[in-house]
Amino acid sequence: MPANAFTPSVYRVARRRRELAGVVTLELAPLSGAPPAFAPGQFNMLYAFGVGEVAVSMSGAASDTDTFVHTVREVGAVSRALGQLRPGATLGVRGPFGTAWPVAAAAGTDVLIVAGGLGLAPLRPAIRAILAERARYGRVTILFGCRNPGEMLYRSELAQWRRRFDVDVEVTVDHAEPGWRGHVGVVPALIAQAEFDPRETTALVCGPEIMMRFVLSALRERGVADEHIYLSMERNMKCAIGLCGHCQFGPAFICKDGPVMRYDAIAGIFTVREV
Ligand SMILES: Cc1cc2nc3c(=O)[nH]c(=O)nc-3n(C[C@H](O)[C@H](O)[C@H](O)COP(=O)(O)OP(=O)(O)OC[C@H]3O[C@@H](n4cnc5c(N)ncnc54)[C@H](O)[C@@H]3O)c2cc1C
Ligand code: FES
Repeated sequence: MPANAFTPSVYRVARRRRELAGVVTLELAPLSGAPPAFAPGQFNMLYAFGVGEVAVSMSGAASDTDTFVHTVREVGAVSRALGQLRPGATLGVRGPFGTAWPVAAAAGTDVLIVAGGLGLAPLRPAIRAILAERARYGRVTILFGCRNPGEMLYRSELAQWRRRFDVDVEVTVDHAEPGWRGHVGVVPALIAQAEFDPRETTALVCGPEIMMRFVLSALRERGVADEHIYLSMERNMKCAIGLCGHCQFGPAFICKDGPVMRYDAIAGIFTVREV
């Protein structure tokens, strides 16, 4: 359990970047010292003073030891208050919490990363860690789906990944716009053509639950075993330390047994709504 599991530490916004309409990335630095280490896939509880606290995944590299990076979509009271913070503003941070993507365990296998919309944010630390040690992995494929070309998160970083000869990056949009020459359609449809060895592949998946359901069927159709598929789950959080029960998912708590969960451990409850 992190040292600040119960009481938020005060951080300041060191940098703020608008990614898309309604989506900002905040770089947060502690008022003194360095942030605690985290593993790709983990999350912090961000507290907008006087408004409330929400769980937000790390979206920066775990090798960045100066700041926490979080990408926030402004959907409700708390996330809007976080999105409006400007450089120099302060907020509370508890964490890091939760389980991590199996970045080390995936070494030696092909890695298939499937992201929908803002789901690319919790996967970005894993992608950066894998690309930093690219030789340890087999084929690496990133499949990303968003609503339209204007909704493409981390556009310039995606372009950098695309330029590499050792990563296969495919982007699809639900709705094309004039000038779009890429795929059109939902991201699970890209799985059928992706090049990977289903017997030796680790799949990392994050996006809306409905998208993850279709991704799971497509992965199973290709023959990827349930125990090689990892999902990042979201549920409302309050305590983040397994006490309040707000994040319960069947017998598991997303805050401590997740958010990254191996699919074979949750297959029985994944398709049940609001468990
Ligand atoms: C482990 C974990 C990691 C998370 N990582 C991130 C992250 O990296 N970035 C991020 O922005 N959020 C992330 N979330 C979601 C975040 O914690 C909040 O649920 C979300 O920001 C809404 O909080 P709110 O209080 O602003 O809105 P609320 O007041 O709770 O909700 C307002 C309205 O928005 C709807 N809503 C809630 N969540 C979403 C959503 N994700 N997309 C669209 N509509 C929604 C609600 O149904 C409601 O109608 C994560 C959640 C978990 C559990
Ligand atoms: S958020 Fe309280 S038990 Fe998970």
